[in-house]
Amino acid sequence: MNAREIIKDIHYVGVNDRVTVKFEEQWPLPYGVSYNSYIIKGSEATALIDTVKIDTVNTYLPKIGGEKIDYLIVNHMEPDHSGSIPEVAKLYPEMKIVCNAIAAGMIKGFCHITDDSRFLIVKDGDEISLGNHTLRFYMTPMVHWPETMMTYIPDLKTIFSGDGFGTFGALNGGVLDSEMETGLYFREMYRYYSNIVGKYGRSVINALNKLKDVELNYICPTHGPVWHDKINDVIEITRRLGSYESERGIVIIYGSMYGNTTEAAEEIASHLNRLGEKNIIIHNAAHSEMSDMISDAFRYDTLIVGSCVYSMRLFPPVEAFLTAMETREIKNKTFGGFGSFSWATGAAENKFKEFSERLKLPLAATFSFKHAMHDGTAKDAKEFAEQIWEARNK
Ligand code: FEO
Repeated sequence: MNAREIIKDIHYVGVNDRVTVKFEEQWPLPYGVSYNSYIIKGSEATALIDTVKIDTVNTYLPKIGGEKIDYLIVNHMEPDHSGSIPEVAKLYPEMKIVCNAIAAGMIKGFCHITDDSRFLIVKDGDEISLGNHTLRFYMTPMVHWPETMMTYIPDLKTIFSGDGFGTFGALNGGVLDSEMETGLYFREMYRYYSNIVGKYGRSVINALNKLKDVELNYICPTHGPVWHDKINDVIEITRRLGSYESERGIVIIYGSMYGNTTEAAEEIASHLNRLGEKNIIIHNAAHSEMSDMISDAFRYDTLIVGSCVYSMRLFPPVEAFLTAMETREIKNKTFGGFGSFSWATGAAENKFKEFSERLKLPLAATFSFKHAMHDGTAKDAKEFAEQIWEARNK
């Protein structure tokens, strides 16, 4: 497939990856992923925006091979975008690599391109001219790495946003959101954001603030559709996620070896449902994908975590989930913890309290029981659900 003009003078040259099983070797890709790259043809010069993962370079190079590229703009250095820089640099020995100073250091380290004359280093607000189009650079550190920047074309009101506003899902024929059903990409956006960028909410909000007066007609991210019709929706979802704002829903994540903690999870969910909650999502941490658990915990307002005690600690898959929450500095949740034990009284509750204190996430309720559920503990589970419900509806 050749380059395709998607906006006046902007050609899409990205590739789909339906082979990689897990993004970053961690996050499942049931619908694949696209690595987006774009060519901007100015009246005097041509620029290429980002490259693609090296595994897909054989599909990528024929798309750009016929063009004379004057500038390679490197918005982000994670290898899903920078992996093909060495091949592109070889193909175009006269081409300047346009990036900030941090990215230049990474290109030297990752790509072994060390000749300083190949680089054109830019700072926040700098511009380069392609003749009839100008490229302006906005530094947006930590969306998703420290070197990340965005490239804006004022006359086309188009921004190349790197991972910002990206989503999982390979492109199925169309490139612009107006050319496709976008439901899949919006669903996958929660998982993409929470899994990949989730820790950097403050940086995402800083970037949105920096761009608040920038007119946007098109957003061209490095993954997923080019946003045009649905720009406002995409910005609003990104703002909400970056601010750790939640939607109404209860997520119960539990780990159980022999079914006793499972029984408690079911009991708690049943009470919450009777209290009026329809949107309850239960994950068995030993079976569900970490990716989905993180995504649901990010998206919804109430998080309940249950665990049996395991060698005086939480059950390992539950502990791994809480570590993922801590890494992402999760905020603004109604949080509750419950668990079962055989002899280590209070071990799970202590771990939930420690987690709550470290994250400054108040523990709305705790509940634990010895051995198996019985009538007394079923009553405790009901009270636990009521305390959570009350705290959440305050
Ligand atoms: Fe799509 Fe942070 O790379």
